[in-house]
Amino acid sequence: MKALLLCAGKGTRMYPLTESIPKACVPLNGVPMIVYSLEQLTRAGIREVGLVVSPFSHPFLEDLLGDGREYGVSLTYLMQEEPLGIAHAVGVAKDFLQHAPFFVALGDNLTNAPLLPMIQSFSSQDALVATRWVDDPSRYGILQTNGMAITQIVEKPNEDIGREAAAGFYLFSPAFFEVLPFLLPSSRGEYEISDVIQLLVDRGKHCEVFRLDGWWKDVGTPLDVEETEVLLTP
Ligand code: G1P
Repeated sequence: MKALLLCAGKGTRMYPLTESIPKACVPLNGVPMIVYSLEQLTRAGIREVGLVVSPFSHPFLEDLLGDGREYGVSLTYLMQEEPLGIAHAVGVAKDFLQHAPFFVALGDNLTNAPLLPMIQSFSSQDALVATRWVDDPSRYGILQTNGMAITQIVEKPNEDIGREAAAGFYLFSPAFFEVLPFLLPSSRGEYEISDVIQLLVDRGKHCEVFRLDGWWKDVGTPLDVEETEVLLTP
């Protein structure tokens, strides 16, 4: 199965550091964050990765990773010219994905949970969303479920609708591209992955959660960097 690794975000919550290097290159215990992201994918058996990059991040990432051989993957660089959100980033990869199911990993989400069981449990679903319980739901896409079935997902809710958060790893069937043309930008001006999932749910598609077993971090701020470095230390 092909995976997309999204590395085109601006990383504004990490300024000034991410004014001079992309977030994916921020070192964690001396190793660029993206190296950990790639390891997560190779541990799950993924060998073909589409790296979605921005005009800013592209030269840094290509210098660091080349064709990916050294890291056990074959890399294809896919350009997202403008920062229009995660769903838009997946949209630029449509031709690369060639109408097959695919895995999506956000470049700033790290976990020690094995992702292979998630891939193995994907069969007839149209979306499978990795989740974790969080204390600060207003930062995330928050899901409501009936058992494992997703009934609702709201991006950064203002109201208390629950604490089960989308944890940055997703599997989709090609139905993703059926609903993408109907997506509208959110209040922050982005095409949200959560809104794609809600469109799939609204159309009666089979969408489920996969509850991650282990630590998980959205490495968005300098404090997250410090905390993740501790988690990564053996
Ligand atoms: C994104 C997703 C959100 C998810 C989060 C995980 O948020 O939109 O649904 O819970 O990643 O890190 P963003 O980082 O773009 O604010």
